[in-house]
Amino acid sequence: MAEAPRAFVVGHPIGHSRSPLIHRYWLRALAIAGSYEAVDVAPAGFRAFLDSLANAGWAGGNVTIPHKEAAFAALDRRDEAARVIGAVNTVWFEDGAPCAGNTDAYGFAANLDDFAPDWRAGARALVIGAGGASRAVIHALVGAGFRHVDLANRTLARAGDLAARFGASVHPASLEALDRLAPHADLIVNTTSLGMKGQPPLTLDLARARDDAIVVDIVYAPLHTPILEAARERGLTAVDGLGMLLHQAVPGFQRWFGERPKVDAALRAHIVADLARAGLA
Ligand code: ATR
Repeated sequence: MAEAPRAFVVGHPIGHSRSPLIHRYWLRALAIAGSYEAVDVAPAGFRAFLDSLANAGWAGGNVTIPHKEAAFAALDRRDEAARVIGAVNTVWFEDGAPCAGNTDAYGFAANLDDFAPDWRAGARALVIGAGGASRAVIHALVGAGFRHVDLANRTLARAGDLAARFGASVHPASLEALDRLAPHADLIVNTTSLGMKGQPPLTLDLARARDDAIVVDIVYAPLHTPILEAARERGLTAVDGLGMLLHQAVPGFQRWFGERPKVDAALRAHIVADLARAGLA
């Protein structure tokens, strides 16, 4: 009998990852014999970890901070999203060879499909932040047909570099431009760490935002960030980052364990309960 498939999430540190909770929930719900383990690997050991995957019997796994770019550099069979984003969060095997993908853009879009289904009708977006998460968000927005993306970042040069990767529809700006740009946006997305537990809030004046604007935070710890509270007070649709985390996990689970799991209210409640135990929901 074939051994039950084993998958991992690798990062450093890894203790706060909620991926084991998500995948173990699905393994249980679908009665699949398999396991999902958190593995702490420091940067110096990451290449050796990747090289040992097949021999160690892993079906594949998730890659998180700080290894997403190193996984991209090390694995040359990549899906299109990984190529565009320049980072890898999911690894699996095909014909014995390791393959690398990025499911963050998919997760971002699927979360909006759940909580703001009209989002694809938008034409203009304001994205705040120019790190790895921002790349995934812009890839999703361009894929959904947004024609104009204002990209505001503390370090303007970083916004400029990222805009250059995506072409003429992405317009770099500094954070000082936020209040001027916000009223033009159908969709406003925070991809920075501002608003995360222990970080200062993102300050953004939503008074002149469009009445039908959608505000998204990819932060999910805490679940209710100051910018989402401000959006709700202003009567706007506000979408938290938890759904992106849940949906980005779906394609990996399907590859390792053979069934496509569902992101539903029960899974969300399971993770919200964990966030609440940590004082984050
Ligand atoms: P990730 O991969 O999660 O996107 P990252 O690559 O470290 O993480 O990017 C973090 C983002 O948050 C960047 O846009 C960063 O701005 P800089 O490019 O100027 O560093 C932004 N950020 C982090 N702390 C910030 C702060 N205190 N004020 C403004 N922006 C901040």
